[in-house]
Amino acid sequence: MGQLFEARAGGRLSGRIRVPGDKSISHRAIMLGAIARGTTRITGFLEGADALSTRNVFAAMGVRIDGPTDGRVLVEGVGLHGLAEPAGPLDCGNAGTAMRLLMGLLAGQAFASTLIGDESLSARPMRRVADPLVAMGARIETREGRPPVRISPAPEGLHAIRYPMPVASAQLKSALILAGLYARGETEVQEPAPTRDHTERMLRGFGARVSTEGATVRIRGGQQLTATMIDVPADISSAAFFAVAATIAPGSDLILEHVGVNPTRTGILDILRLMGADITLVDEREVGGEPVADLRVRAARLRGIDVPRELVPLAIDEFPVLFVAAACAAGRTVVTGAEELRVKESDRIAVMETGLRALGVDARATPDGMVIDGRGDLAAPAFSGGRVDSHGDHRIAMSFAVAALRAAGTVHIADTENVGTSFPGFVALARRAGMDLTSREAT
Ligand code: S3P
Repeated sequence: MGQLFEARAGGRLSGRIRVPGDKSISHRAIMLGAIARGTTRITGFLEGADALSTRNVFAAMGVRIDGPTDGRVLVEGVGLHGLAEPAGPLDCGNAGTAMRLLMGLLAGQAFASTLIGDESLSARPMRRVADPLVAMGARIETREGRPPVRISPAPEGLHAIRYPMPVASAQLKSALILAGLYARGETEVQEPAPTRDHTERMLRGFGARVSTEGATVRIRGGQQLTATMIDVPADISSAAFFAVAATIAPGSDLILEHVGVNPTRTGILDILRLMGADITLVDEREVGGEPVADLRVRAARLRGIDVPRELVPLAIDEFPVLFVAAACAAGRTVVTGAEELRVKESDRIAVMETGLRALGVDARATPDGMVIDGRGDLAAPAFSGGRVDSHGDHRIAMSFAVAALRAAGTVHIADTENVGTSFPGFVALARRAGMDLTSREAT
């Protein structure tokens, strides 16, 4: 039952690799393409289970979607009000982004819908999105704040609100922006700290007017979107595993091609550099409104740091692998203000603490972060071999595969089948880059 990884100790990374397409941008490309007028052409689409869930949800609402084939997708947009009532529940699988953004988009439709997800997604908080949508006039029911989410047509349609967000969440911000497209008046959302802005950028690419002024985003309802072309860059959150891998494995020198380096996503690079990493951006360019670059990563000696709190939302998905980097660093790394990690695909603070300790790391969970005392000796292993459980969390599984580069023995990682939600082909690419990783069916 299930898959497991066997990550053998040692190795170094070299060559040039391109990791799969950005998950956040892939979800949004299907969503905006579906409600635009005309045919949207996507290249570099992430062919992972999460983005495919979004494709299937829109197909179930009558949108013709061809692909993905080699990352190419054609979406025949139906216009702002052209979605059809689905015949059954809409399954978001493991994808929190799909469910939360869909809540906003579906709240403004003239038909009812139900959003469901897998076991992990069914345990994740949805009230943070439902509450402001209800304030906009939406009808939404949850099971005590969690999925399934039932959405009924708003009896009087949606109306704009001004909303100071209580959490720094791009999913929440995006849900309210999408609902704002269907609302009377101008919706205004204020962020407590900057979060990824792909929704705002992509809406502008589809011809909509979205204003950003400091921490405030505004959008007027009723704007029709016009189909466009979207080139999805490689996902910096997937590149992060290899950036840490090449940093901690002595002798490594790796190029990661065509990585999205939107400044609302590059917290991982800033944090690693503060720790002493050697990462350079080569050939910076802009592709379809998103900055892109090749990353050159060479092995480096890391030191522990207090991670600046303002960088936390800009690196929120990268903490599992950052904890691995911290375990290799000289001295103490302290992460605070990262309580959101507890409501991701797993409780990433608890699950990483358990796994790191099983590999002999001095890691201590706190309510909103972690304290890790790293070994810091480049000549010695930073981890013992051993067994860890990813709890079905893709990013935890990949993080421990990276840890094996500096382990004294093989690291066995259980429950790895969800790696394909964000990073199809991870094992093959890791092997190509120089990691000794195999995946097999658990017996
Ligand atoms: C995402 C936003 C983040 C991130 C998730 C993708 C997005 O979630 O963790 O993987 O695409 O908007 P939160 O907004 O809940 O922090």
